Amino acid sequence: MGAIKPVRGRRVKSPYTITASVPVHNFSATEINRFRKSILDWYDKNRRVLPWRALPGDAPDPYHVWLSEIMLQQTVVAAVMPYFRKFITQWPTVKKLAAAPVEDVMAAWAGLGYYSRARNLHKCAGVIVKDYKSCFPQDQAELKKLPGIGEYTSAAITAIAFDRPATVIDGNVDRVMARYCAIEEPFPAGKKAVRACAELFSEGRADRPGDFAQALMDIGATVCIPKAPRCGLCPVAKTCRGRIAGIAQELPAKAAPRDKPHKTGRVYWIEDGRGNVLLERRSDDVMMGGMLALPVSDWVLHGKTMAHDPLPQDVSDIREVKSVIVKHSFTHFDLTLYGYMARAENRARLKGPRYKWVPEAQAAQAGLPTLFSKAVKLFYRG
Ligand code: ADE
Repeated sequence: MGAIKPVRGRRVKSPYTITASVPVHNFSATEINRFRKSILDWYDKNRRVLPWRALPGDAPDPYHVWLSEIMLQQTVVAAVMPYFRKFITQWPTVKKLAAAPVEDVMAAWAGLGYYSRARNLHKCAGVIVKDYKSCFPQDQAELKKLPGIGEYTSAAITAIAFDRPATVIDGNVDRVMARYCAIEEPFPAGKKAVRACAELFSEGRADRPGDFAQALMDIGATVCIPKAPRCGLCPVAKTCRGRIAGIAQELPAKAAPRDKPHKTGRVYWIEDGRGNVLLERRSDDVMMGGMLALPVSDWVLHGKTMAHDPLPQDVSDIREVKSVIVKHSFTHFDLTLYGYMARAENRARLKGPRYKWVPEAQAAQAGLPTLFSKAVKLFYRG
């Protein structure tokens, strides 16, 4: 069988602003129905058991679905599992989560990254309790108005928690659809065509929307995997345009990655001479905002000079610690922090909500983002 030609011209609804039409393959209603049935049959036999997932026949808990989907934004399933368990043990209901101090929620999130998610999670819990009598709304448009809930998460909650039709597209679904529909346009531009195809297979489909969304995610995670797709295990391999054309493995194609900028800065281990180290709560408008951290300088592009180094006042005896060099990769830049030790002359001046002194041996358990827990491990070797 030869490759099936794309048909140009269908206009699509999308969260992206699409002014031009995008190419969409021509799929018959029969093929769409067959595709859905094969995917759902596969799911009934092969679904992953995940802590937030309802067992077959049980109703999903919208609180669990919401919490897991926020955690799964930009984070893999294996990393999310222990955090999800910790959260539902500590805060078994959305009401309990809303009533918790935001600092406790931020500390429990430490290590999971993208910390604005934790602040929005707490904010959203408050809105659900106050404005929705602790019950999540079922409508996708209503969900999208809530803090931290965008196109993907609102669709996932609509489908998974309430079994209502929605087009759910995460990284796994992107890959499955790009291959099945042989979308060759490199990402991110090619995502428009993927969305158009995914909508074709999902919109208005009332037969098990939640299971269908999770089935595509599971197939993407276990069968239609990035490097070497296991087409022999795939329930829709026979009609997969990418496999038929011999290009499945190369899809989705990606635009050439840009080199990441490299920034540098200083990280401080400030002692009080009594066995305590200074932590600082980062302001809300910076990266890792609201999290406890070691004090740092500005971060500047490698080779540029620092505009200022907002070291706390009354700090002396500053010296570089050659063994502390912390390297960390963020989504948009790489960072190297050079370690400095210092002594607080007058601990009483470094008080208030911004500062926290903790025993040096406890700094590693204080709920710091990974960048700073790496630094603590290098500064403090016990
Ligand atoms: N990734 C994001 N959401 C997921 C879910 N509900 N199940 C499996 N993987 C996911």
